[in-house]
Amino acid sequence: MNYENLLAGFHDGILTITINRADKLNALNKKTVEEIGAAIAKAQIAADVRVIIITGAGQKAFIAGADISEFADYDEKEGALMAARGHAVFNAIEKSTKPVIAAINGFALGGGCELAMACHIRVASNNAKFGQPEVKLGLIPGYGGTQRLTSLIGKTKAMELLMTADMITAEEALQLGLLNAVTVPDLLMNKCNEIAGKIIQQAPLAIASIIRCVNAFDDNTKNGLEEEIKEFGKCFATKDFKEGATAFLEKRKAAFAGE
Ligand code: COA
Repeated sequence: MNYENLLAGFHDGILTITINRADKLNALNKKTVEEIGAAIAKAQIAADVRVIIITGAGQKAFIAGADISEFADYDEKEGALMAARGHAVFNAIEKSTKPVIAAINGFALGGGCELAMACHIRVASNNAKFGQPEVKLGLIPGYGGTQRLTSLIGKTKAMELLMTADMITAEEALQLGLLNAVTVPDLLMNKCNEIAGKIIQQAPLAIASIIRCVNAFDDNTKNGLEEEIKEFGKCFATKDFKEGATAFLEKRKAAFAGE
């Protein structure tokens, strides 16, 4: 399959998907989200694919979030639709019967952090930075972040990170339980391939069962995911969102009026 915004590589049972928009810090536009969905779906039925690794092109970013230039003029309906489309793809990653490893090679912000959290294992290079900065745009996370961040690091820290928009380092993310491992950038793919290699030695059907069972632990997040789609859409009806998105595109600080 030919992709516009992804590169796909395959070796020894491992499919590596690279988000390939380095000049936009691999920001997720609609096409990229669609293509990730297609690549994950294809991998489910490809008998030779045993593990999937997702990473970002370039030295600077894993994914710097959803593409703000694309959704800056969305209304409430379009916002909710965007969230629902993203949820479908990120849920498919989470439910993938082939384990998905995020190789986080730089900024993992907004939808980037959310994509990493939908994966089963997360390894970061020590220059990676994590955060959910949507609130700076007058928004909330719309790709599952309110639920998966809370599930992974607990309500206390999730509230803080979601409301302050603070960025944290890979080392802090490891301490919080957001990551499985941190490594130097040059060894990031080696570390991911090493973990993939261990998983590949195990029984594939048992691995798929483990994914289903561990995901079932989080079943109470399902209502929360629906709530997130609704609330994300509602943000688009506010003046604060218009101001936040415009301010980002004009490279200035937003001035929110609470309207
Ligand atoms: N959507 C659209 N474009 C984005 C983007 C995003 N989420 N993140 C980065 N870009 C673009 C920038 O607009 C810039 O494009 P340009 O060269 O055409 O102006 C390019 O990627 C490089 O980013 P830049 O901001 O110049 O890099 P930086 O090193 O100064 O800052 C970040 C890096 C990650 C701190 C900054 O890009 C940022 O804050 N991005 C947005 C993060 C965010 O809010 N994500 C959540 C979205 S819901």
